[in-house]
Amino acid sequence: MLDQLETLYKDAQQSLGSVVNANALETWENKYIGRKGEITNLLRSVGQLPADQRAAFGKRANEIKNDLTALFESRAETIRQHELAQSLEEGGIDVTLPGRSVPMGGIHPSNQTLREIYAIWADMGFQVFRTREVEDDETNFEMLNIPQHHPARDMWDTFHTTTPGVILRTHTSPGQIHSMRKFAPQPIRFVLPGMCYRYEQISTRKEIQFNQVEGIAVGTNIHLSDLKGTITAFAQRIFGADRKVRYRSSYFPFTEPSMEVDVECILCEGKGCSVCSYSGWLEIAGCGMIHPVVLRNGGYDPNVHSGFAFGMGPERITMLKHGIKDIRYFWGNDLRFLEQF
Ligand code: DAH
Repeated sequence: MLDQLETLYKDAQQSLGSVVNANALETWENKYIGRKGEITNLLRSVGQLPADQRAAFGKRANEIKNDLTALFESRAETIRQHELAQSLEEGGIDVTLPGRSVPMGGIHPSNQTLREIYAIWADMGFQVFRTREVEDDETNFEMLNIPQHHPARDMWDTFHTTTPGVILRTHTSPGQIHSMRKFAPQPIRFVLPGMCYRYEQISTRKEIQFNQVEGIAVGTNIHLSDLKGTITAFAQRIFGADRKVRYRSSYFPFTEPSMEVDVECILCEGKGCSVCSYSGWLEIAGCGMIHPVVLRNGGYDPNVHSGFAFGMGPERITMLKHGIKDIRYFWGNDLRFLEQF
């Protein structure tokens, strides 16, 4: 049996020499030193030997097994290194290949317009002031000179909450009250942007949620000419330096006098087209001198202070600039629309 062991030892050493890959190595391991391998089997059969030979045989068999195990491990390492080198060579990176582009999100078209609006007003000294979307009836209407049964409330169909008197703001104008109350009697210049909500039949032109940008300037020496000069400067920066701007008399309960601002149609340059309903003009904002009642509600003395305010819709401005025909695209989350910006 000892001879058998030595022969096996030689065979194993020899055949290990020709093992060149991981598969063959595994076969070799199973054949000789694995749990059912030949060396292991011989070791197990030590009991069949006469008692006086067992110790010597066991000792030699263990030596051989340890030696083969060490040889096996060093062979395994050599093969691992070799296979690694080979796979690195085969899978070499071609640094001249163009990179794969990573899909990136974009800035929503409304936000792009909002940022443009903020930047222009910031140049004229107007800071952004944010106020709440969930508003009380009093600030949204009454403080702005729109009492309970005032017919102008029809202009703002309102979403009510389950708490009486708590509504979703129908416009950003209540921000006028919040900003005035915070700073009166100091002079202020703010733009108040944000979402507004109205209970409307959704159509190509009307959504139940939309952004507005309100503007407010209050001081001791502010006139209608300041309003016109400032809003004209804004309109020409956003729609083009030579763009004509006109002011049409209008009515809002919180301003007196009130006006609507039109710019020369940016598509037909005033000649008349379907976008401007063949009038040559596009309405872009409402504005006016802040009503004395509103100034007083904001904490200013209308005998000392005056101011102007305006309100505009960034979605409308975006639609005009890009020729978008349907406001529902804005909140439709359709990537085919959004990815165009
Ligand atoms: N709040 C008005 C609306 O939602 C817009 C507006 C008009 C705001 C005139 C103003 C203003 O500040 O002076 O229709």
